[in-house]
Order: sequence, then structure tokens, then C-alpha cells
Amino acid sequence: MKIAMFSTKGYDRTFFDAINEEAGHEITYFESRLTAETSSLVEGFGAVCPFVNDQVDASVLQTLADHGVELVALRSAGFNHVDLHAAADLGITVARVPAYSPHAVAEHTLALILGLNRQTHRAHNRVRERNFSLDGLLGFDVHQKTVGIIGTGKIGTVFAELMAGFGCTLLAHDPYPDDECRDLGVEYVRRDALFEKSHIISLHCPLTPETHHLIDDDAIARMKRGVMIINTSRGALIDTRAAIEGLKSEHIGYLGLDVYEEEADLFFEDLSDRVIQDDVFARLLTFPNVLITGHQGFFTREALTNIAETTLANITAYESGTGNLHRVVPEEVAAP
Ligand code: NAI
Repeated sequence: MKIAMFSTKGYDRTFFDAINEEAGHEITYFESRLTAETSSLVEGFGAVCPFVNDQVDASVLQTLADHGVELVALRSAGFNHVDLHAAADLGITVARVPAYSPHAVAEHTLALILGLNRQTHRAHNRVRERNFSLDGLLGFDVHQKTVGIIGTGKIGTVFAELMAGFGCTLLAHDPYPDDECRDLGVEYVRRDALFEKSHIISLHCPLTPETHHLIDDDAIARMKRGVMIINTSRGALIDTRAAIEGLKSEHIGYLGLDVYEEEADLFFEDLSDRVIQDDVFARLLTFPNVLITGHQGFFTREALTNIAETTLANITAYESGTGNLHRVVPEEVAAP
């Protein structure tokens, strides 16, 4: 099938070309994001392959349909950026990669926790400057701390395993409790109880209308003073302005982010020669107790291999009418 792949980098080409040797599709790699301005590039393509910050709203989908696109094959697990109802109305099939490596994201979550706690990024910079002072680097034992996990699906469950290994007390909130997590010793509690009791809170639920700004002023006010909040899921789960107020009042002790609600204009690009126009993001960068990575949780060799395999397998399944097509249907939007 002829595939227009958007928001591509060299590493996408490397992994997709390797898997495509067998799959035999015709892939065109566009560096630009899929937006209203670039959507007309899809003329002559049967499938479009967007990434997490591409625009797949009703108007872009209309342009895709007008140009004959039948399939939107997401190369991500999250699908919050797609208007599924509009796609269904236009007869466009949407597929995704439901699981590629929950370990990749869960392990990156751990990296943020340990990095923030022991300030390894700041320590490294100091040592490079031959500053061996320990002032400001005081951490805490993660062992025996209470960790609250919001969303115990694939990633949340692996994260629970990792934190169980640290000897933490594990709390979770999920409308669908998981037996594997219960076996690890996870106790399911109401969201407010999780906020009140946890030293570390990690978000692993999807972004839906219900979870939008799940962490807001009220939620932060319920949390322990000095709480560590980690978000490797989707940026808009946190009201960033509320988080900034929480950091200023020192109610939030640590904030680790791999995602940011306005990341589309920032992440995945080298902007080192540019002036950052986003004042909220710029403010976040001023805090010594905030650690931000640019949506790299998924970025392991294993995950990129799985993403390429499943994305191309979805396209083959759609084209041939056989095999496993990981279709996303509008009903899933309403699911909690
Ligand atoms: P999953 O679908 O396996 O698990 C999500 C869990 O969240 C489910 O158990 C679901 O019941 C639960 N949930 C839904 N609504 C909830 C609510 N209101 N409160 C609490 N829990 C709720 O998804 P998976 O694979 O574990 O991924 C989780 C999220 O991680 C994705 O939605 C995506 O946004 C994000 N992600 C981030 C990546 C990164 O590179 N930083 C890469 C891949 C995924």
C-alpha cells in the first residue's frame, strides 16, 4: 500500500525500512507534521501514518478522505489526537499500536523518579565544572515510600512491578482493577485517597475528556506537601498552571515530565537556536526540582522495532483483509 508517513526522523526511516523489506509497502517519509497545511500532500496515498503530535481532527480527516485516503495507521498507542467520530463518518479506518513496549515507558518513568530524587543531571553538570559540593542534592530512600499509580494498564502494571522491587507500598486508581497488580500487592483506592497518601504519584492513564487536567489545583491541595508527580502519559492530564503554583508554594516537591500539554510546538525538534515563545514552559524550566524530557518514553530499540512491525502489520491486514488489524473505534473514546 502507498503510505504517507508524517513527522518522521532518521530513526523512523531506519526501523521502518528494515521491517518493510518483508512487508513490501511503498513508504514516503515526510518530515513535516500532518496539519491542515500539509494534509494535501496525501494525494495518491491509500494510508497515512501520523505520530503523536500530528493533527488528525475533522478538517484534516475531510482532506484525507477527499484525496482518497482509506486508512489512518497511527504509529502510537495513544489516539487522543484523532477525531474518531469524524473518521467513522468519512469511512476512514483508524488503527494503532496498542502495545509495543510497556517496559520502555515504565523504565523511563523510573529514570525520572531516580533522576529527580538524586538530582543526577545537576550532579553531572557540577562534576564537569569540578564542583564536588553536595549542597542541594539531598535525596530520599525510595524504599518503603508510598507510590500512587493512576492507570494500571500495560505500562502502569510494569511500573508497579518495578516499584514493588524497590519495596514500596503501592496504591492505584483505575476503573478496571487488574489482578496481576493485586498479586503484586497493589491496593486499589479512590483517587482522593491516592492523592492524600502517596509520596510519589505517577500517571499512566489515557487522555480522555474525563482525565483532562486530572491534576489540578484541587488535586494538588489534597496531596502530601513535597509530593513527587511524574507524568509520562499525556501532557494535558496535568493543568500546568496549577502545577507551577504548586511548585512555587513548594507543595509539589518534584515534578517529572516526559509530556507537556502544549508540546506539539516544541518537542521532537532542535530549537536550541530559537527563542521559546511558550512562557508557561519557560517558567517550568526555571525550577531546580523539575525534570523534563521531550516525549522519549517510547524511545528504545525494542519499542521502535515493535512499533514498525505492528504499524506495517496493521496496514497489511487492512489491505489483505486478513490478519490482526488493531482498529480503534469511536466507542473506545467513551471508555474510561
Ligand atoms: P492501557 O490502555 O494499557 O492502560 C490504560 C489504563 O488506564 C487502563 O487500565 C484504564 O482502565 C486506565 N484508565 C482509564 N481511565 C482512567 C481514569 N479516569 N483513571 C484511572 N485510570 C484510568 O495503556 P498503556 O499502554 O498502559 O498506556 C498508558 C498511556 O501511556 C497511554 O494512554 C499513552 O498516553 C501513554 N504513553 C506514553 C508514551 C511515551 O512515550 N511517553 C508511549 C506510550 C504510551
